[in-house]
Amino acid sequence: MAIERTFSILKPDATRRNLTGKINAVFEDAGLRIVAQKRIQMSRAQAEAFYGVHRERGFFNDLVSFMISGPVVVQVLEGENAVARHREVMGATNPANAAEGTVRKMFAESIEANSVHGSDSPENAAIEIAYFFAGTEIVG
Ligand code: TYD
Repeated sequence: MAIERTFSILKPDATRRNLTGKINAVFEDAGLRIVAQKRIQMSRAQAEAFYGVHRERGFFNDLVSFMISGPVVVQVLEGENAVARHREVMGATNPANAAEGTVRKMFAESIEANSVHGSDSPENAAIEIAYFFAGTEIVG
């Protein structure tokens, strides 16, 4: 299986509760390697553009406000089948539906404050990685 990269965010509810290490331990134990990482405060414009695909959804404004409510950790994870593997260990969007052992089951507060973002396809991973990282910031 090919080595792949995916884009990951540890959301404001995770940084607020000091859970970044515990969550990344789950990702690392799943075979994913952190090859780029930074802690940032997203601007409203940046969050709106990042979640642009959801612009027409009822939850869009609340989601953007939540994503800028505190710092986030943006990161690139690398590993075999990284996009699917990352989403598997993240768990379902709504923690009420997330499987035992997944990050969202263990840590998420709600469908909105659900601790982590992960790209949903290799194509979107490439777009999202390029949105936050220069090639020189990724060290595999
Ligand atoms: P989505 O891309 O559907 O989920 P995922 O993050 O699992 O790929 O939605 C993006 C984010 O939008 C999701 O992580 C949390 C938020 N969201 C809500 O706040 N309410 C909702 O009803 C949905 C579907 C998502």
